[in-house]
Amino acid sequence: MDYFNYQSGQLYCEGVRLDAIAASHGTPAYVYSSATFLHHYQQLARAFAPLEALICYSVKTNSNKHILRLLEQAGAGFDIVSGGELFRVLQAGGDPAKVAFAGVGKTDQEISEAIEAGIGFFTLESAEEAENISRLAEGLGRKVAATLRVNPDVDPKTHKYITTGKKLTKFGVDIEEAVAFFEKYSDLPGLNLVGLHMHIGSQITTINPYVTALKKMLGLIQTLRSRGYKIEWLDLGGGFGADYQSDTAPLAPDYATALVEMLAGQDLRIAMEPGRFISGNAGVLLTRVLYVKQSGPRRFVIVDAAMNDLIRPALYDAFHFIWPVQPAEGFVPTERTSEPAMDGLIKADVVGGICESGDFLAKDRLLPPVRRGDLLAVFTAGAYSFSMASQYNSRLRAPEVLVNGSEQKLIRRRETYSDLTAGEQ
Ligand code: LLP
Repeated sequence: MDYFNYQSGQLYCEGVRLDAIAASHGTPAYVYSSATFLHHYQQLARAFAPLEALICYSVKTNSNKHILRLLEQAGAGFDIVSGGELFRVLQAGGDPAKVAFAGVGKTDQEISEAIEAGIGFFTLESAEEAENISRLAEGLGRKVAATLRVNPDVDPKTHKYITTGKKLTKFGVDIEEAVAFFEKYSDLPGLNLVGLHMHIGSQITTINPYVTALKKMLGLIQTLRSRGYKIEWLDLGGGFGADYQSDTAPLAPDYATALVEMLAGQDLRIAMEPGRFISGNAGVLLTRVLYVKQSGPRRFVIVDAAMNDLIRPALYDAFHFIWPVQPAEGFVPTERTSEPAMDGLIKADVVGGICESGDFLAKDRLLPPVRRGDLLAVFTAGAYSFSMASQYNSRLRAPEVLVNGSEQKLIRRRETYSDLTAGEQ
């Protein structure tokens, strides 16, 4: 679900025409819809309200500070994985007490900064890290709260690069070793071990993996409690899917129904770390067709965005729906799917100008006929798009525009050539 809609043959973001944004800010450009961010945040907040869950938006999906501020004002806390993300949250006015800090490789500097900022809790990923955080906290005269990230060994049925809760991934502590971990590390002088954390993967579009993982976690909590450990918090992590094609991801109540029932009456405070569910459908990448070329049997639509702007197709074989901003009459799509049932579609690869064959935004894609100069919208570019962008091939990172109703605001300018060399003293 999103607020990008066609009206009279023009694609709009809320009340603003995308061709108008291209005219004022050029292309490529990321365009975000405030209402879509808030819609998804509120859907989750409502669905998990019976648990009074602390919703920590996962900053890595889209970390522009204006987006963080929008969500902070709606009540969100934040899931961070670096000192840079903490810096952004603080700049956006986020409440450090509502921040959870995960990640297997936190540096001493990042840990100290987070302790000094007074974050809510650390997510422990290893025994050595627990000892290190405790040592650093003690040195600063503090005792900090932490949850233990447990790897429940569940297959979330998603791409292998974004599967995290299966045995033998680098994340957390094996569920078989969690009790021993508590026995050894629950009395560290600088740490207050307040609960457990799980994050089984990303773009998970079935509920079962959560139910299976949660059953295992609740069993573990029972064991730990029976041995006298106080388990106050359970952080469910993130992973809820976005709609890369119409209506393919469950809705917030679909995830919540099963989980809320299992968690009611467990005497646990619940945190969660959704990212893509909130931000994914809230953005498009706006790009212009530079050239159309036929090479033997293959047709290429060459656009001014590339894998440096959106690496997901190259990295995960991800599908992003692409449609013209001003499709010819008869081509207004009702459903965003890989096989729109329409006459007159052409098949093409949509590619960027980077010198790699892996630089594509779509392969063998059915599109209405497009010509040089046409504007295209690459959908579901609100998550892991700008935040994974690079300057590869010395390309300038594209601007970000945030729409709210009939207003648009440039929330990050396009980079300039001097940005490319600014740090090279
Ligand atoms: N919590 C933790 C500890 C995480 O590692 C992640 C994502 C999240 C929460 C948020 O997950 P989400 O709700 O957005 O699925 N770049 C990949 C996705 C990487 C996910 C990394 N961790 C992609 O573009 O598909």
